[in-house]
Amino acid sequence: MTERRTTPGDITAAVTASFEGCTDGRLREVMQSLARHIHAFAAEVGLTQEEWAAGIRILTATGHITDERRQEFILWSDSLGVSMLVDALAHALPAGATESTVLGPFYVPGSPVREYGANIAEEAAGTPAWVYGRISSLDGAPIAGAEVDVWQNGDNRLYAVQDPEAPEDHLRGRFFSRQDGTYAFAAVRPVPYTIPHDGPVGNMLQATGRHPWRPAHIHMIVRAPGYKTLTTHIFDEESQFLDSDAVFAVKPSLLRRFVPRSPDDPDRPESIVGEWVSVENNLVLVPETVD
Ligand code: BEZ
Ligand code: FE
Repeated sequence: MTERRTTPGDITAAVTASFEGCTDGRLREVMQSLARHIHAFAAEVGLTQEEWAAGIRILTATGHITDERRQEFILWSDSLGVSMLVDALAHALPAGATESTVLGPFYVPGSPVREYGANIAEEAAGTPAWVYGRISSLDGAPIAGAEVDVWQNGDNRLYAVQDPEAPEDHLRGRFFSRQDGTYAFAAVRPVPYTIPHDGPVGNMLQATGRHPWRPAHIHMIVRAPGYKTLTTHIFDEESQFLDSDAVFAVKPSLLRRFVPRSPDDPDRPESIVGEWVSVENNLVLVPETVD
């Protein structure tokens, strides 16, 4: 009688079965599915031992480059589109609500609260941009007292947190909407920039012929009592790289026109001098009670 040989399928079955006794149903489901999918991936591409060893070296390097200022695992999640996918799964939005997108690694909590219309640029950082809009609920009712937490890069492509020369609160701030739901602040026109690409993720981008650029954008987190918190961007609709964002975060509904304005424009806000641009960005929040 010939001995029965162990097949790849037997190995997958043994691993999934090993989680049968897990009493946490959700953990069991996640681990069994993870095992099935990793095994299916290895089987589908016929993964070689050299390739698997290279993969483990890459994961090891990812751990080594990660510290409290650099999170290379999140960069993998971003550059493989997993961050956007998990966000889309979490936020199946009702029609009319403003869409969300990635948080990114350059958010620093605790930005200063600034007055309506104040300038977040604490030193020259590019073409001044007046950002304004109205925050409303799905039914169109204005939301007063909503917090708009913003951060962006300047014309040197850097966020303040990346730039040792910049004042700590440069290009970031928190604003509150007025009784009629309106908010406004002075910023600068953002520019495209590269995600950190001097580590394992950068090596992957280079080896696969992908670029590390993100299109120009301003980040926002919008918080209001009774509403779901919204993490989003305003994208400059004229920016390069809108169709090839390194982290797959562009959604057509988030593109905005930055309108050129002249220094003698009668609508020029006091916090702005010289040539400027304006961008209207209305925001629609979803009540916490809506699924
Ligand atoms: C950002 O927009 O700040 C960002 C997002 C994902 C990866 C790198 C940067
Ligand atoms: Fe960004």
